[in-house]
Amino acid sequence: MSTTPYHTAVLCEASLDLLVTTPAGLYVDVTMGGGGHSRALLDRLSSEGRCIGLDQDPDAVANAPEDGRYHFLAANFRYLSHWLDYWGVEGQVDGILADLGVSSHHFDSEERGFSFRYEESMPDMRMNSRAGRTARDLLLNYSEEQLADILYYYGELHDARRIAGLVVSHRATGFPTISSLMEALAPVLPKGGPQLRNKLSRIFQALRIEVNDELGALRQLLTDSVRLLKPGGRLAIISYHSLEDRMVKDFFRLGGFEQPADGLMGMPQLQQRVAPLRAITRKAITPSAEEIADNNRARSAKLRVAELRNADGE
Ligand SMILES: C[S@@+](CC[C@H](N)C(=O)[O-])C[C@H]1O[C@@H](n2cnc3c(N)ncnc32)[C@H](O)[C@@H]1O
Repeated sequence: MSTTPYHTAVLCEASLDLLVTTPAGLYVDVTMGGGGHSRALLDRLSSEGRCIGLDQDPDAVANAPEDGRYHFLAANFRYLSHWLDYWGVEGQVDGILADLGVSSHHFDSEERGFSFRYEESMPDMRMNSRAGRTARDLLLNYSEEQLADILYYYGELHDARRIAGLVVSHRATGFPTISSLMEALAPVLPKGGPQLRNKLSRIFQALRIEVNDELGALRQLLTDSVRLLKPGGRLAIISYHSLEDRMVKDFFRLGGFEQPADGLMGMPQLQQRVAPLRAITRKAITPSAEEIADNNRARSAKLRVAELRNADGE
């Protein structure tokens, strides 16, 4: 049996210090993962408090805290409002926590195809391994232009067009393994060292964000949070990518989204005179050097927290 930890919770104390204002309240951890944040959250709740945990990855269920105050739901958080509506608790939530992206478990599980360390794996990258398209499906079916857009916007790769061209011209291989993809991309890959790792990380990150529609799910969560929280209720989001952090920051400031303009996603735009959420973190909170030394995967984390205004906009 593997002894690798499922995941180490990032910015755990900092996020919960700002999120939990009502120990007897109702909280939702929409990205339960290894359950680190959920367990620490339960520690702060009284016997009347309740917490709902979500994760779209079926592997996560084994980590759900065994606690009468906790209820786990194997679901994508983009459907959170359907569930809360069904249970009749829309507008009654004291706090929502989202710790975005993938868990260490995803990177460390060979068969899940998230990591270029496992060259013989199929490029899969689905967080919900029971549904949806794999990264291989995208590589084989997206147009060259779609692939280039994804690589450029989600991977911030300036040679996105060249990479997309190489993918399309090597489709006959069927990309059965990560090594077959790396062979196709050899002309644009640095020879080794940190530059190679950096480039592969960006390519893999771009594919993963698209496979899981990570920005679409975040956009839905931000929009829905306004209906789900009670006045004074808080939304805490830990993000790991500048696009996510910008969406969160701008949504807190502007309170709505324009329609997607260029086919990828709509950025937040002013929808009403007063944005419904008020940021209570002026700047994003980042992990200490000590936390990063203990857990390298914390290095790009940014935490932002906002509070739902009441009907008077206060
Ligand atoms: C960074 S980990 C969270 C780790 C967790 N905070 C902990 O303490 O272990 C992100 C988790 O969120 C899940 N996830 C990501 N996007 C999701 C979505 N749209 N809906 C539900 N779960 C999602 C992933 O499967 C992963 O387990």
